[in-house]
Amino acid sequence: MKSYVKVSAPASIANFGPGFDTFGMALEEPRDVIELTLDVYETEIETVPDYSIPTKKNAAFAAANAIAWKNRVNSPFHMKITKGVRPGSGIGSSAASSVGAALAMAVAMDYEAKDEEIIQASSLGEKMASGSAHIDNVTASLLGGFTIVSSRNPVDVISIPVERLPKFDIVVTLPDVVLETRKSRSVLPRQVPLTDAVENISYCSTIVHSMLDRNIEKVGKYLNDAVVLPYRKQLMPWYDRVMKAATGAGAIGFSVSGAGPAVFAICIENARKVAAEMEKAFKAAGFKSQSIITKPGKGAEVLTVK
Ligand code: HSE
Repeated sequence: MKSYVKVSAPASIANFGPGFDTFGMALEEPRDVIELTLDVYETEIETVPDYSIPTKKNAAFAAANAIAWKNRVNSPFHMKITKGVRPGSGIGSSAASSVGAALAMAVAMDYEAKDEEIIQASSLGEKMASGSAHIDNVTASLLGGFTIVSSRNPVDVISIPVERLPKFDIVVTLPDVVLETRKSRSVLPRQVPLTDAVENISYCSTIVHSMLDRNIEKVGKYLNDAVVLPYRKQLMPWYDRVMKAATGAGAIGFSVSGAGPAVFAICIENARKVAAEMEKAFKAAGFKSQSIITKPGKGAEVLTVK
């Protein structure tokens, strides 16, 4: 067993347009840093800054415990999570913490976990945070690049590594409102019209092929969603206005990041201008916002082991 492990895990964009609960894109920035210490008397989880996340019933705790239990270990641990990824913003905050926590626990226990096991453990974190064990964010945060969930049960995933992707910038704009994933999922219907499903199959297939073909213009062109967005838009009254601002400033694609409220734009150039215009549009709709200009990034990394 190790006594100290430090891991970092990135934010991610789930769904990536049409791929509800299936596509994910790891971001270069921001990242959560998770420090796990064993050899302590009491289990404690500390988040920095203090987002008033419950100290035990939280995603990271659930994910770390799942790995510990699998190994029949029940020792107390201290976990410090330096949150680069703001909770409730739509860029996979609970996923980054869960993946970091599960990976740190596996490394601390000298357990060579398969990717699928880390994903499965992290999905328990997602379930705790949002009521649903979706694995699109955790897969992207663990593996990096553009990810595809081929199957949920059993877990089977694909990652197109960042080196194989086309080069582009991603502007993520986060309005100063919290939209819980639980709420964003509660507005979705149990069934959707076949024509909408067909549209999304076309978008998804085109995006995957265009990613491999390094054709970012085509990825941007088909970053649409006929299945989920029409229902979620009622929770995001700013959506059309901000999209118009982004594309008007030169973005080649635009969509909601995960369950929202964050939105993202794909740019080949003009990322700063796009960010400024998206923030202006949010302001005009009555919301303060902040943008992050980033790109596709690598997955979780083990930084220190002692
Ligand atoms: N695929 C999930 C959703 C991601 O859209 O609800 C949540 O972050």
